[in-house]
Amino acid sequence: MTTIHVPVLVNMTMEYLVNQLDGVYVDATLGTGGHFRALSEKLDQNAVLIGIDADPTAIEYCKNSLVIPQKHLYINSNFESIKAVCFRNGYPRVNGILMDLGLSSFGLDNQQRGFSYSTDGPLDMRFSPDLTVTAKDIVNSADQFQLETIFRNYGEERHSRLIARAIISERNIEPINTTGRLAEIIRRRTHPTHVTKTLSRIFQALRIAVNRELDVLEKAVKDAISMLETDGRIAIITYHSLEDRIIKQLFKTESSDCICPPEFPICQCNHKATIKKLTGKPILPDRAEIRMNSRARSAKLRVAVKI
Ligand SMILES: C[S@@+](CC[C@H](N)C(=O)[O-])C[C@H]1O[C@@H](n2cnc3c(N)ncnc32)[C@H](O)[C@@H]1O
Repeated sequence: MTTIHVPVLVNMTMEYLVNQLDGVYVDATLGTGGHFRALSEKLDQNAVLIGIDADPTAIEYCKNSLVIPQKHLYINSNFESIKAVCFRNGYPRVNGILMDLGLSSFGLDNQQRGFSYSTDGPLDMRFSPDLTVTAKDIVNSADQFQLETIFRNYGEERHSRLIARAIISERNIEPINTTGRLAEIIRRRTHPTHVTKTLSRIFQALRIAVNRELDVLEKAVKDAISMLETDGRIAIITYHSLEDRIIKQLFKTESSDCICPPEFPICQCNHKATIKKLTGKPILPDRAEIRMNSRARSAKLRVAVKI
């Protein structure tokens, strides 16, 4: 682990999330435990903290480095199973859940994980070694249409077709096994002024595809809401518009008493709101935080309370 991960929007997150000082709190994206530590500092001695991460190295890191006075558990799991893992550990109902999505700095900076286009390493990108498909598998075996769809849907990249074509023609010469070679292929096809944005979009798209990030998210947030005690809170920090759109839409649906199409004269869905939004517009980091921590620049925090 080369870089210490600086937790984003930590004060605002704590302010909104914690309203029961002796409650049970879940950090579903433990990382290097920055938010977890802040939760521990805010909560009473008899609170309970549960840290979940798909990445076993994050779990190991926190086990070895955090000193948490409260009762606490570290669980290596995808948050897709948040409900089952908390239930199995004796906590079917909780007072607060945090999801700080994406990748931590130590994951990004570890060359061997293959997340970064600025260093050379194996084209892997898995959050967890349990996953069987790597970015290398996708890059070398998806067809033109599949690659294009991944780059367009998960990277919102305008030149998806061009880049997909370039990948196919290059891999026909020699398999693309490293981040360095993939980055070079993209660089050669991209105008110099757009290179950084294109590289980050394509790498983001592959990472989302490898980890099924968006598929997992909706189910996990619905399950998380269902586990909250009345008055319990869910706080979610997103880093790109695709994630934020999902959370915004989900919070809108879950906080509505009716989700019928607007043309229906009377309600037929019988949907009942389960949450109330605490943040109409998402909370953004201020300039000082962005200056200190460039990862914060795209962060958005949304919080809701269970009713
Ligand atoms: C932005 S970091 C969290 C940083 C943390 N809040 C801190 O202060 O150190 C996101 C973490 O979530 C984990 N993660 C991402 N998607 C996950 C998922 N679906 N299930 C469980 N963990 C996930 C990643 O492995 C990474 O460690």
